[in-house]
Amino acid sequence: MAKLLIAGGAGFIGSHTTLLLLEAGHQVVVLDNFSTSSPESLQRVAQLAGSSASARLCLVEGDIRDPGSLDQAFQTTSAPCDAVIHFAGLKAVAQSVHQPLLYWDVNVGGSQRLLAAMERHGCHTLVFSSSATVYGYPDRIPIPETAALQPINPYGHTKAAVEQMLADLASNEAGPAASGPSRWRIARLRYFNPVGAHASGRIGEDPLGPPDNLFPFVSQVAVGRRQRLKIFGADWPTPDGTGIRDYIHVMDLAEGHLAALEALWNEPPQLLTLNLGSGRGHSVLEVVQAFEAASGRPVPYDLLPRRAGDAAESVADPTEAHRRLGWRAQRDLATICSDGWHWQSLNPEGYGSGPA
Ligand code: NAD
Ligand code: UFG
Repeated sequence: MAKLLIAGGAGFIGSHTTLLLLEAGHQVVVLDNFSTSSPESLQRVAQLAGSSASARLCLVEGDIRDPGSLDQAFQTTSAPCDAVIHFAGLKAVAQSVHQPLLYWDVNVGGSQRLLAAMERHGCHTLVFSSSATVYGYPDRIPIPETAALQPINPYGHTKAAVEQMLADLASNEAGPAASGPSRWRIARLRYFNPVGAHASGRIGEDPLGPPDNLFPFVSQVAVGRRQRLKIFGADWPTPDGTGIRDYIHVMDLAEGHLAALEALWNEPPQLLTLNLGSGRGHSVLEVVQAFEAASGRPVPYDLLPRRAGDAAESVADPTEAHRRLGWRAQRDLATICSDGWHWQSLNPEGYGSGPA
């Protein structure tokens, strides 16, 4: 049993990963300020895990920018912390354009303080949530990890900056001035488009306010919470004219984190950089059709002009993650839609925490 600190563990990806870690027998301390999530997600994680596993779950309500909250999270039990998974941050592209300083403060400043706290508490194993957003407009499809990093919005710049901070940390520690090999074991995981929900339908994605992303919008239309989907662009150079993305089931993603932790623990200190995607692309219209089939509900839509900042296509080359972790996304689009619908239909208003 390892002791893990999960920053942002109440959020969409964090809650699913926390459940899997508890089921794998680990002790989990979640540090979250609930700025984009609800404590209800963790209550449901605890119920799903069962009473014996949930006894290994602890919550510290606090901000990763606050050294006192970080110290409290590291000291919650006397056992040393074996690893941190860092999900905490802000991820709305449009908001990042309007509030770049907030994004640099939370995503970059928060990460820097988290890393400083890891140093203070002698923990040098980290899994960081990066994003395919670091590739900007990709110059090839599928996108390998070696593709150029060219983010095109403040959110993407903050992810690339944290990736660089982690590389600096790892290479400085390993450099000629260091007394020995690097102590840092770091995985930078670049997620493609995380969607779907736990098969129980008890936890899932619950964005605050109108969703920016396709999947939650489609499912809120299907459940009757929103009238019509707006499809941004029907004139992309793709077979049906709509944008193509690599949708990955959130439980596949959670399993990728466990596999990354195992690799970091079992191999010498290293800086791992991996795409977590399925390697399969689906268009917006394919998603709409698959969701209609899974839900039995219509998803009416209007075709609008392209959205600023969108790329025609984004699909991962997931070969390296399979080679290094033995991990592969298992769940297809039909499963993603049926699990997503199960969550949305059981919880039409999500956790009931945010404005409609
Ligand atoms: P989310 O908003 O559901 O979860 C983020 C969690 O972090 C929330 O629980 C929030 O309350 C918490 N948080 C935010 N700021 C905090 C702070 N200062 N201190 C403590 N807690 C804080 O988002 P998610 O979809 O679960 O994303 C998790 C991570 O994965 C993020 O870093 C995001 O940038 C990254 N990511 C997400 C996607 C995606 O499409 N969902 C894609 C690529 C990368
Ligand atoms: N789309 C619509 N209507 C909507 C929302 C989206 O047609 O209401 C289209 C988009 O134009 C795009 C596709 O659906 O073609 C997917 O859009 P999302 O907003 O769901 O996802 P993105 O690929 O644009 O971006 C998301 C996150 C980024 C992250 C990226 C890769 O918002 O932060 O996935 O992880 F970087």
